[in-house]
Amino acid sequence: MNYSYPLYRPPSEANSLILQITEGCSFNRCSFCSMYRDKTFSEKPLERVLDDIQLAIQLQPNTRRVFLADGDALYRDMDTLLKILDVLYKSFPNLERVSSYALPNNLLTKTSEELLALNKAGLTLLYYGVETGSAALLKCITKGSTPSKMTAGLQKALDAGMNVSATVILGLGGKHHWREHIEQTAELVNALNLTYLSTLQLTLDDVIKEEFIQKFHRQNREYVPQSDDDILQEQALLISLISPKKSVTFRSNHASNALPLKGVLPQDKEILLTQLRSATHGESQLVPTWLRGL
Ligand SMILES: C[S@@+](CC[C@H](N)C(=O)[O-])C[C@H]1O[C@@H](n2cnc3c(N)ncnc32)[C@H](O)[C@@H]1O
Ligand code: SF4
Repeated sequence: MNYSYPLYRPPSEANSLILQITEGCSFNRCSFCSMYRDKTFSEKPLERVLDDIQLAIQLQPNTRRVFLADGDALYRDMDTLLKILDVLYKSFPNLERVSSYALPNNLLTKTSEELLALNKAGLTLLYYGVETGSAALLKCITKGSTPSKMTAGLQKALDAGMNVSATVILGLGGKHHWREHIEQTAELVNALNLTYLSTLQLTLDDVIKEEFIQKFHRQNREYVPQSDDDILQEQALLISLISPKKSVTFRSNHASNALPLKGVLPQDKEILLTQLRSATHGESQLVPTWLRGL
């Protein structure tokens, strides 16, 4: 396949065909995220995307899942997205789902009718970085959104019948703001019926560390990193507070995590909290730092 690197995909898309329809991220300003800093955002010409699909038909004819890369494929206009989805479903007889990342502005820009049309055309799963439910911390990390805007956008996608997988970054508030981070994140999550909820662990690239800290200072806040034990405490508080009306599948299976967990919330709360307690007491091993990554 013709990829421009670096190329990222969610852990659950490990076996999917990755089809790059944009390069980079249309926002690219979150202070914690260095994933696309070296890429200028661009939309891959439709003819080249269609060429890639032709190549994929030869290489992976039995494709069941497609992930549209890069950072916010949902940025593309409706005609292009619908054309790509149509060609994909016609090209792969076994195709079951197409998914992509979405950033807050994508869900505000697209109308309810457009999201409905995309879902009907087979874009049925969106991966969305909530990161935190704290309005103050969203400013510190320059996410470019607020809890109420994110809730409105996510509700719109859910109302359109889409499945949503939301990510939260543990450690984002540091030692001083971790409780606010977790409590307000749980509030946001509990107000929605998300399909999946995943936690990642803050992993700051050396190139952006200073900028990340400075942006806290500009909001008159201080960022002091959390230890692994602190992160386990954040995870335990988050799990204990998650009680949405409809069950949510919970995972911390991303490579950044010290302790991989999976379950359904709220049902599996006690099982997950027991696993966290045994990790805190050193009875189960954490993933060594050298094995972690983004
Ligand atoms: C490639 S981004 C795409 C998501 C989409 N652009 C958005 O912002 O919602 C995937 C996710 O990786 C996570 N991520 C990015 N940088 C991270 C970091 N330094 N530490 C931990 N998680 C990070 C964030 O949760 C982010 O939403
Ligand atoms: S977290 Fe998402 S929106 Fe923010 S810079 Fe990274 S890819 Fe772009």
